[in-house]
Amino acid sequence: MISILKNKRIVLGVSGSIACYKALDLASKLTQAGALVDVAMTGAAQKFITPLAFRSITGRPVYSHMWDEREHVQHVNLGEEADLMVVAPATANTIAKLAYGLADDIVSLTAISLRAPLLVAPAMDGGMYAHPTTQANVATLISREVEIIGPAEGRMASGLVGKGRMVEPAQILARARSVLGQQKGTLSGRHVVVTAGPTREPIDPVRFITNRSTGKQGLALAQAALDAGAKVTLIAGPIAAPMPPDAEVIHVTSTQEMHDATVKACQNSDILLMVAAVADFRPATISNQKIKKTAAEEWGMAISLERTLDILEAIKQRRADSGSPKVVVGFAAETQNPFEYGRGKLIRKGLDLIAINDVTATGAGFGVDTNRVLLINRSEAVTDLPLMSKTAVAEQIVSMAAGILAVKENQM
Ligand code: CTP
Repeated sequence: MISILKNKRIVLGVSGSIACYKALDLASKLTQAGALVDVAMTGAAQKFITPLAFRSITGRPVYSHMWDEREHVQHVNLGEEADLMVVAPATANTIAKLAYGLADDIVSLTAISLRAPLLVAPAMDGGMYAHPTTQANVATLISREVEIIGPAEGRMASGLVGKGRMVEPAQILARARSVLGQQKGTLSGRHVVVTAGPTREPIDPVRFITNRSTGKQGLALAQAALDAGAKVTLIAGPIAAPMPPDAEVIHVTSTQEMHDATVKACQNSDILLMVAAVADFRPATISNQKIKKTAAEEWGMAISLERTLDILEAIKQRRADSGSPKVVVGFAAETQNPFEYGRGKLIRKGLDLIAINDVTATGAGFGVDTNRVLLINRSEAVTDLPLMSKTAVAEQIVSMAAGILAVKENQM
């Protein structure tokens, strides 16, 4: 469960565009994430999709016009009670109404009684988005702190290619979560650095040494920190899964690259979540050319290795001088004696918290969506989390890191 959206009142305003079908997906994603989604539709939107379709997905009434007794009073409640309003798709007409404060349909009427943040996802064909009128209206909305998300470039319904496609629902969902996090999250205004995934150490131009990390726990941590309202820098090794859209992502490959990016990102940061499965060894020499079978046989088929840099050690030294990051969380994947090895790393690497997982336990470790984690803090207090989703593990760790940060700052 994505906790930031749980029981939040979200008004989804839908105006008339072929992108209405994407709004159904968005309503579904928000509802599945636990939000209470009140859909308000313009008359034009109802030409594309019926209120029944939204009602079936949200399980809540849909507001389709202004003139029945209930709706006319309801718009005020909708606007006042909402935690967030999202207008998606937003046509040129609806954007103009929002900019001018017109209120002649249930979407614009609700928007003008809104006391919460407003997120607008434009969708329009042809040159309508680029037209100076629309651009001026968008600028007006931005000046009033309305957030415009998209539109994206691509093929539009008319067959034209240009800027005007509504962004994907997953991107709007991610933005909704961040906006709510920034309003209400425990890490609002904070900078969190997350490292995720494996690193790769080249042997020659076509071969490398790596490990089985897929980056799932790291991505979940980045999302949990975003949900808590933080600005997130995600330093990602080679990971196939999609990145959280709201994170600032720095792609790296080798341990050296991850070291450099992490050290840089950690200047003036509040929390480092060092979850990457960093390669511990690298080939002592890297061949510029592909190593041929015959040559390898001559060398005796051995690759000699040397130690890579320990990134947390480097951070520990810098932190002693600068005090940044204020909180450092390390991770340890162990196959034996998780508590003893974990505690040793906590002390050696100067961590505030360590999350240890026994990668041999059922349902834990590489590639799966669940994890079984033991947490130890500086006072050696142990939290033994049961098997749970990586998302839930991430929320627990982020919340504990936020707690440690709060305690440290109160002590200063
Ligand atoms: N780590 C790091 N730099 C490295 C290796 C690991 O910063 N070169 C970090 C990991 O991201 C993790 C923590 O150190 O947060 C522990 O990683 P782990 O691989 O479990 O420990 P190691 O220090 O490599 O120790 P060992 O090989 O003895 O298990």
